[in-house]
Amino acid sequence: MATFAITGTASGMGAASAVTLAAAGHTVIGVDLHDADILADLGTAEGRETAAGEILARCGGRLDGVAAIAGVGPSLPDAAAVMSINYFGPVRLLELLRPALAASGAGRAVVIGSNSATTVPMIDDELVELALAGEEEAARERARAAAEAMPAGLRAMVPGLSAYATSKFALARWVRRTAVSPEWARQGVLLNAIAPGAVRTPLMLGSTGPDGDPDAFPTPMPLGVFGEPEDIAFWVHQFLRPEARFTTGAILYVDGGTDAAMRPDAQ
Ligand code: NAI
Repeated sequence: MATFAITGTASGMGAASAVTLAAAGHTVIGVDLHDADILADLGTAEGRETAAGEILARCGGRLDGVAAIAGVGPSLPDAAAVMSINYFGPVRLLELLRPALAASGAGRAVVIGSNSATTVPMIDDELVELALAGEEEAARERARAAAEAMPAGLRAMVPGLSAYATSKFALARWVRRTAVSPEWARQGVLLNAIAPGAVRTPLMLGSTGPDGDPDAFPTPMPLGVFGEPEDIAFWVHQFLRPEARFTTGAILYVDGGTDAAMRPDAQ
């Protein structure tokens, strides 16, 4: 049986993924701000170092997979924190854990992006570049400035919307660029992303109110239902399997058809 590190295990998709993998007989090392094996704030450099150090100690330097799921939504008032948690959290943690994934011989990594990267028209290109260049402080400043520049009404409702969509856009681009680099691809470490749509977790229910009508949701929901955390956990499990050996750099939309409805001709 395999050993997997999962972030965000205290709630939502991370909790469901931990349950799914443990039920399949695997060892799960959970990371979160609270109620987890390892307590760490992945929005800070220190927290990422702590998390990586404790994961490596627990797995003995050999890790079969990582699911970087922890994240925040667009209603977080601090746009800088949105960038640090949603982009630099998974990126830095995975960079720190890559050698342990390589040591397994068939390492697997999956991150949780969002279909907001392609369905929200507020991507800040300069912020994407700063993120991909690894400039966390400059990215934080830029995210705050971009939030200030949002129309006041929108900012009052979802202050972190631009930073949120941009963090997930940059994360998807990082996955595609990184997955094919020799340090990952030729070490047998596969790296993919899941782009969920509206999934009924505390994050989504907190930002859009209690269970609404999917047909009244701001983006189209072709299947007529919201996702459940288990719908994401299913694909997390698939991406972490050793048999998933010919897929890397992929972005899988698990969104009830929202992205296809909004961008039917995008490939
Ligand atoms: P959730 O709020 O139920 O769970 C997120 C978990 O991440 C929580 O346990 C929280 O404590 C943890 N977390 C947040 N900040 C952290 C930090 N600084 N350090 C360590 N842990 C931290 O949310 P959900 O919905 O399960 O979110 C999982 C991922 O899915 C996030 O990356 C989110 O952006 C993404 N997502 C969610 C969607 C939805 O509709 N629920 C849609 C698209 C993407």
